[in-house]
Amino acid sequence: MVLQEAQIVVLGSFMTDVVSYVSNLPRMGETLCGHKLAICCGGKGANQAVTAARLGAATAIIGKLGNDSFGKSYLDALKKENILTDFIGLTSEALTGLAQIIVEDSGQNSIVIVPGANNYLTTEDVMNSRDTFTKAKIMLSVLEIPRETVLSGLKLANELGVFTILNAAPAVEDLEKNFYILSDIFCVNETEAEMLIKQPVTNHDEALSAAHRLMEKGCKKHVLITLGKNGALLLSRDDNNSFLEPVFVKAPEVKAIDTTGAGDCFLGALAYFLAYYPDWPLCKTVTNSCRVASLSVQRAGTQTSFPYKHELENDLFV
Ligand SMILES: Nc1ncnc2c1ncn2[C@@H]1O[C@H](COP(=O)(O)OP(=O)(O)O)[C@@H](O)[C@H]1O
Ligand SMILES: *[C@@H]1O[C@H](CO)[C@@H](O)[C@H](O)[C@H]1NC(C)=O
Ligand SMILES: *[C@@H]1O[C@H](CO)[C@@H](O)[C@H](O)[C@H]1NC(C)=O
Ligand SMILES: *[C@@H]1O[C@H](CO)[C@@H](O)[C@H](O)[C@H]1NC(C)=O
Repeated sequence: MVLQEAQIVVLGSFMTDVVSYVSNLPRMGETLCGHKLAICCGGKGANQAVTAARLGAATAIIGKLGNDSFGKSYLDALKKENILTDFIGLTSEALTGLAQIIVEDSGQNSIVIVPGANNYLTTEDVMNSRDTFTKAKIMLSVLEIPRETVLSGLKLANELGVFTILNAAPAVEDLEKNFYILSDIFCVNETEAEMLIKQPVTNHDEALSAAHRLMEKGCKKHVLITLGKNGALLLSRDDNNSFLEPVFVKAPEVKAIDTTGAGDCFLGALAYFLAYYPDWPLCKTVTNSCRVASLSVQRAGTQTSFPYKHELENDLFV
């Protein structure tokens, strides 16, 4: 099947994850020998798109790869995931985004991220993909690309009546009001919430007050804070701007072995359920997204841990 139209548009990022496994992290100036190497596709935007596509969503990514071997192999991988790649540009200005990850046997890691080509995704690229926006139901974006590009995407989506989800990740200290105003769902994890509101978020009460603070910053509809093994908090306003009763959604209790990418899996699932089950109450959409994400934490890796529809229980889809 060749996709022509997408229900979900991800305006996002790509990173090639190069992971070296060593017994101890190197000290300054030290050269040491690792015992394993892995090269995988990553980046928050692409991770989210891959989750949605594996659940069966017609998904497009708007993004920028380098005109290099990592970029070309990333493009092939996305095609295999059945993701619409027509709006992905190749740039010669910078190399494909890269995350150099060193993991020691204890599980501790150190990471260097170079956004590279992701920094060259422009407002013009968004405007050139206007066609795909007009046909989509959901736009999902992240902050691993230039902020003004994200803002252009949010504005265009709002203009065209496309439902917007902003995952304000990675964590930033401040964000212009428009990012909040233009997002139908504003979603962050605890660390990202802490950075934005400059207060700790370590328990249910603090999460609830953080959600209210994020609403005060300009969110009009829904604030969603993911809480790791504790699930997620949803705070919504109705059409008259009155707050609805906040909902703490529990995640299934599972044995987690690798939680990297859990948030991306959650967001990809959220976009999928919103696009394909638009009549569900949002708390059901969030509950089912937590169930999909809880599956990913039981497997190793990032994209390798994201489930396909056939691996999930049927009752998730009714
Ligand atoms: N240990 C866990 N057990 C079950 N579900 C989990 C676990 N960790 C994460 N999840 C699921 O993944 C979602 C996102 O996880 P979280 O850690 O908040 O995001 P991030 O990956 O951004 O840190 C949670 O809302 C939850 O549904
Ligand atoms: C990519 O690089 C090749 C040469 O390696 C060149 O022919 C091509 O025009 C480049 N494409 C872009 C989009 O820069
Ligand atoms: C939240 O996501 C950031 C990346 O944006 C990550 O560094 C951090 O560990 C996550 N926090 C939690 C509590 O999972
Ligand atoms: C909004 O307010 C109007 C007028 O007060 C009322 O008729 C309507 O039912 C309210 N809608 C909601 C969703 O509460």
